[in-house]
Amino acid sequence: MSKREMLEIGNMDDMLAKNEIAIEKLRDINKAHSDDIGRKLKACTVTYGCQMNEHDSEKLIAMLANMGYEATDNFDDADLIIFNTCCVRENAELKVFGNLGHIKKIKESRPDLILAVCGCMMQQPHIVEAIKTKYKYVDLVFGTHNLHNFPELLVEVQNSRSQVVEIWESEGDVIEGLPVDRKYDVKAYVNIMYGCNNFCAYCIVPYTRGRERSRKPEDVLEEIRDLAQNGVKEVMLLGQNVNSYGKTFETPYDFSDLLRDVNAIEGLERIRFMTSHPKDISDKLLETMAASEHVCEYLHLPVQAGSNRVLKAMNRKYTREQYLDIVKRARALMPDLSISTDIIVGFPGETEAEVYETIALMEEVAYDSAFTYLYSKRTGTPAAEIEDLTTEAEKKARFQELLKRVNDIIKDKIQTYQDKTVEVLVENISKNDAGVLMGRTRQNHTVNFEGDVSLIGQIVHVKVTKPRNFSLFGEIVDKKKA
Ligand code: SAH
Ligand code: SF4
Ligand code: F3S
Repeated sequence: MSKREMLEIGNMDDMLAKNEIAIEKLRDINKAHSDDIGRKLKACTVTYGCQMNEHDSEKLIAMLANMGYEATDNFDDADLIIFNTCCVRENAELKVFGNLGHIKKIKESRPDLILAVCGCMMQQPHIVEAIKTKYKYVDLVFGTHNLHNFPELLVEVQNSRSQVVEIWESEGDVIEGLPVDRKYDVKAYVNIMYGCNNFCAYCIVPYTRGRERSRKPEDVLEEIRDLAQNGVKEVMLLGQNVNSYGKTFETPYDFSDLLRDVNAIEGLERIRFMTSHPKDISDKLLETMAASEHVCEYLHLPVQAGSNRVLKAMNRKYTREQYLDIVKRARALMPDLSISTDIIVGFPGETEAEVYETIALMEEVAYDSAFTYLYSKRTGTPAAEIEDLTTEAEKKARFQELLKRVNDIIKDKIQTYQDKTVEVLVENISKNDAGVLMGRTRQNHTVNFEGDVSLIGQIVHVKVTKPRNFSLFGEIVDKKKA
């Protein structure tokens, strides 16, 4: 444990006070600087990875706004650039290194530019080493466990001429009370727990996010009540495995209890959550979902593979048969339930026949959507040690075959919505067409339809006229809730 860690863990009020003092200091420094140059300072935040990281970035952006930075998407305009990184697959890491190379040139012409990197990649010692030796122009490096320290570290950057690096090896207490600058007005992410204890053989997340910690129900509920009072209609409850919520509490209170209590919050229309690990989906949870008006008929239930041998090697702790049984029970309780999944192709030692078992399972479940990934070796995980004789070319061919079959499954599924009337929460104007609105069904399908911008944030009913490949087109039927 580092010195700073020992000093700071355990006293949340202290940490928040330090965070606020540092923000004030930076606000003064930035004000003087911006008066000098005759314009406001700008910060560019680039986020890779999952919703956890997106939500962490919402906290970073709020801190930056409080320091007096305006947000920008453009590197060339930015006085500060921060990369919030992901390392779940090698691709994500390569993108970050590519971008760091690009920024080197900008930094050469503008040495005042502050460059910071944080997030999951930085929890890996070999990455931090690479940044210290090959990317010396990076000003600040911090990890996932000390995000709240960002302002203090930035003060250190202002005071020192050398690279500031601070990574905590392990998680401290759950930090409450950090400001959040949310990306959307209509819907919001809410963390309910952090970390992961599952150690799936291929996955780096337990090493980058630490052990499971649940936020107290009263803190979660208070945050959501506040959001609902401010017009938020939908919340996405976030955790690597939300089904383990509350396992460390002294008084029994589990994820189903939390869903029930969130469902009772006045003004909230929709509740979603991710991710559910199949190994601990209980009947109580499925029954609570079915009985809770505002909990959407949508379940992200990553299966990863369809062969029992591969599931065991992945350390997923359920069989194909158990998974299919959950799907059956869930659909019996919620006939309109849409189910999505994550799939990995090319786990070390996986055979072609085993990939066909995955395809058969996907056809049997008839998923509404699927995120498919080619296995990526992650240093430090048990799977990285398994001998793998399959070539990359073979893996890619199997992946393409699976992708083709999955697209057919999803297209067939979407066709079943033809002429159906669906409930849509209107989120925004369509990206491609200003006269068209975009929203989502309770089942999480994107719907586009013509309508007035005043409908944003409202629930409307839309009759589907044209199911396309991955989204629905329709006509508005009424604006009231049924
Ligand atoms: N906690 C979530 C998933 C987090 S990571 C869960 O258990 O479902 C999101 C997805 O990335 C995983 O579901 C998995 O399909 C994929 N993934 C994780 N590690 C990977 C790796 N080494 N190679 C390829 N895909 C991976
Ligand atoms: Fe990774 Fe498995 Fe944890 Fe998900 S449950 S984050 S796949 S170790
Ligand atoms: Fe998420 Fe990537 Fe980290 S998937 S938890 S940002 S490794």
